[in-house]
Amino acid sequence: MAENTQNQAAGGAPAKPKPAAPGAAKSAAPVAAKPQAPKTEAAPSGVYKPPVERAEANPYKDAKVGVVGSWLQERFYVVMPILDYLKKKEVPRHRLSFWYYFGGLGLFFFMIQVITGLMLLQYYKPTEAAAFSSFVFIQKEVPFGWLIRQVHAWSANLMIMMLFIHMFSTFFMKSYRKPRELMWISGFVLLLLSLGFGFTGYLLPWNELAFFATQVGTEVPKVAPGGAFMVEILRGGPEVSGETLTRMFSLHVVLLPGLVLLVLAAHLTLVQILGTSAPIGYKEAGLIKGYDKFFPTFLAKDGIGWMIGFALLVYLAVVFPWEIGVKADSLASAPVGIKPEWYFWAQFQLLKDFKFEGGELMAIVLFTIGGVVWLLVPFFDRQASREQKSPVFTVFGLLVLAFLLVNTYRVYAEYSALAPH
Ligand code: HEM
Repeated sequence: MAENTQNQAAGGAPAKPKPAAPGAAKSAAPVAAKPQAPKTEAAPSGVYKPPVERAEANPYKDAKVGVVGSWLQERFYVVMPILDYLKKKEVPRHRLSFWYYFGGLGLFFFMIQVITGLMLLQYYKPTEAAAFSSFVFIQKEVPFGWLIRQVHAWSANLMIMMLFIHMFSTFFMKSYRKPRELMWISGFVLLLLSLGFGFTGYLLPWNELAFFATQVGTEVPKVAPGGAFMVEILRGGPEVSGETLTRMFSLHVVLLPGLVLLVLAAHLTLVQILGTSAPIGYKEAGLIKGYDKFFPTFLAKDGIGWMIGFALLVYLAVVFPWEIGVKADSLASAPVGIKPEWYFWAQFQLLKDFKFEGGELMAIVLFTIGGVVWLLVPFFDRQASREQKSPVFTVFGLLVLAFLLVNTYRVYAEYSALAPH
């Protein structure tokens, strides 16, 4: 800050600003009430005036940038040190670097969700009477409406899949270890919010499958103490109805996007500040092959991943379209094989396995405890925080992964023969 100290004199501040005497602020108050002399004049004696610190108008004026760049620099020079800092960020290259792409892919599919979601909003009508027909209209009448809808539905699934891969890969590389605890916590909150997006979006087409799946899903808290109240809050009444649709819609397009943007900003800021970690012991064992500058090298590599992701997305959207189904009818009986979206199958199977007296509550409690332990894992794994290998936590992660995969497969095997997705 040597520059700023020099500039004090240039800023017209008194050469030796008097330090504030104890009680000076009090005694200054009546003076302040009187008509003031113009600001440029020296302050009345006894009134503390902080030294004026002026930064160089544009410390980057000699940098080689275009006309627009220098125009922006002159106005936003305060952020230049941040940009300089970001330019220094590097990503280690080693045999597990491949896994670093999945966070970026999650981000890419989230951006697709925002863009296609805004497009769908131009035609979608969130009422019990019009929701289903507006979906049919988007699918059949709006030019390329079918494509936008299919891309939105597929990108949601791919985003959640990328987030699961990202979460487990960061878990097994112990990237949550000190000082990255908040990266892990903010990431886990992002996963929960993304699951919330999936749950609330599922009802929006107002078709039969979504209607009954939401009925089953919103009933889950009922067995917990105070759960009936929770169910009413979720549904906007005792049953799934048009009120539920309004709730799910507002959560899906206002509350959840707002929260995701806030938490995502924190997550990505931390990624930039703390940088990308390498697995424990890699540096010492000489397994790091080199470093890529994040801007532009790694970002360009991320871009290649995004292009592959986009190609896959369009392929899936065109070749495997999601059905619209038939309009929901609350008086009809539930069709066979009602199940939630695949990312809830593990919990769904656990609830089915605990179908004895008090079992459902036990399943909810177990799942909640498991979730809290998972969230706080960076604080439990003290060894990793000391840069020591922690095989116990690797086994724990493998058990969690096996539980999710086995239960998901069990639902798939049981239901795939019964009903369409
Ligand atoms: C919308 C959701 C998410 C987005 C967009 C996102 C994005 C990213 C990006 C771009 C990175 C840097 C590159 C990389 O290592 O992949 C990253 C790093 C990280 N993320 Fe996420 N993430 C999300 C969710 C999660 C989840 C669910 C977790 C775990 C519970 C998580 C934990 C982490 C950790 C620990 C790192 C640091 C990796 C390291 O330093 O090696 N993130 N995230």
